[in-house]
Amino acid sequence: MQQRDSEAAPPTLGVGMVGYAFMGAAHSQGWRTAGRVFDLPLRPVLAAIAGRDAAAVRAAAGKHGWAAAETDWRALVARDDVQLVDVCTPGDSHAEIAIAALEAGKHVLCEKPLANSVAEAEAMVAAAARARANGQLAMVGFNYRRVPALTYARRLIAEGRIGTLRHVRVTYLQDWLVDPDFPLTWRLEREHAGSGALGDLGAHIVDLAQYLAGEPLVGVSAQLETFVKERPLLQGASAGLTASGGAQRGPVTVDDAAVFTGRLESGALATFEATRMASGRKNALRLEINGELGSLAFDLERLNELSFHDHREPAATAGFRRILVTEAEHPYLEAWWPPGHALGYEHTFAHQARDLVEAIASGTDPVPSFADGLQVQRVLAAVEESAQKNSVYTPVQAVEAVQA
Ligand SMILES: NC(=O)c1ccc[n+]([C@@H]2O[C@H](COP(=O)([O-])OP(=O)(O)OC[C@H]3O[C@@H](n4cnc5c(N)ncnc54)[C@H](O)[C@@H]3O)[C@@H](O)[C@H]2O)c1
Repeated sequence: MQQRDSEAAPPTLGVGMVGYAFMGAAHSQGWRTAGRVFDLPLRPVLAAIAGRDAAAVRAAAGKHGWAAAETDWRALVARDDVQLVDVCTPGDSHAEIAIAALEAGKHVLCEKPLANSVAEAEAMVAAAARARANGQLAMVGFNYRRVPALTYARRLIAEGRIGTLRHVRVTYLQDWLVDPDFPLTWRLEREHAGSGALGDLGAHIVDLAQYLAGEPLVGVSAQLETFVKERPLLQGASAGLTASGGAQRGPVTVDDAAVFTGRLESGALATFEATRMASGRKNALRLEINGELGSLAFDLERLNELSFHDHREPAATAGFRRILVTEAEHPYLEAWWPPGHALGYEHTFAHQARDLVEAIASGTDPVPSFADGLQVQRVLAAVEESAQKNSVYTPVQAVEAVQA
């Protein structure tokens, strides 16, 4: 761990978070940890969280280490001790909260997908551009970019280690919806979630594919399916991916699975599969990228490892080799444990907090930006359009066309 001179304590950055369930807990962990592990130019302070249930939000504040609790996110945005608003609510409230926070002069971190529609995402990009002029920064929470093995994969691709890209192949498989009696939580309702596996998991793999390749998708051809069309109505609250249902059933209004192909700007081909119906697969984000000179492969269920094949090596001894991405020279690892002392899912949120704090302190634009989030939103919209038209190839509108 890096040591800090306690006499030269950095100035603070007050954080306010809206929503405190699954992502709220993960982000809390990130905000609590980042400044204790990395030598940050600003010290994140967990100033306040907001939720709608007074007793529950107070309990969450105590559990996750927040100094104060609010029952209206508008009150949180208005607090003087909050300089950054972290949006950890379902997609239907991202635009409203993020835009209000930016207009109130706060920096914003917003969970993915950026919004529930392209129009909302465009409004958020415009708000972020206006706020940028006053020094406020905005970032979207595609945390998988901050898995060290994936950050390192991007570095290898950018250095040309696998040459010109040919194939980007990504799947994101989970199984928590296999049971037809899993209840109708917000993730299964279009009005709250925007889409199903597509926006939940597909957004991650679209962002990741474009981040790793260093170029956007320019068109897609897609199929969507909802296998279980009705589910039990929710009883009580849901948290994360756990919930219970009653006897009455209601309609599922989003996709259970999304399968699509895409073309990257350079002409490389991409394939995607996102489902919450792959029994036995818990959080299986897997990818393989093939280039002219070599290949890279990764599996989130073994997230400290990156497989690398150098096609220039003699065929007799060449092959995929496992890089254990825990060396001090690997991304983010300089501040963590000795080699081989593995990291996990939660560390991505500390890395996300670190990168955003450093961007704020230096006044540089953080990535992924709201414009990056809009670009992903446009891919998701093109996937839905293609699926409605029998998988016809559907172009993705470039983001440069958006005006602030
Ligand atoms: N980056 C990741 O790996 C990842 C993983 C899961 C979810 N997400 C994203 O994070 C967001 C939240 O998902 P989650 O899994 O934490 O959901 P969740 O259901 O576990 O938590 C949502 C929280 O938002 C609160 N909330 C809902 N509407 C609100 C409102 N209007 N005002 C105040 N609070 C409100 C709920 O009470 C709850 O605390 C979604 O956008 C989701 O896509 C990202």
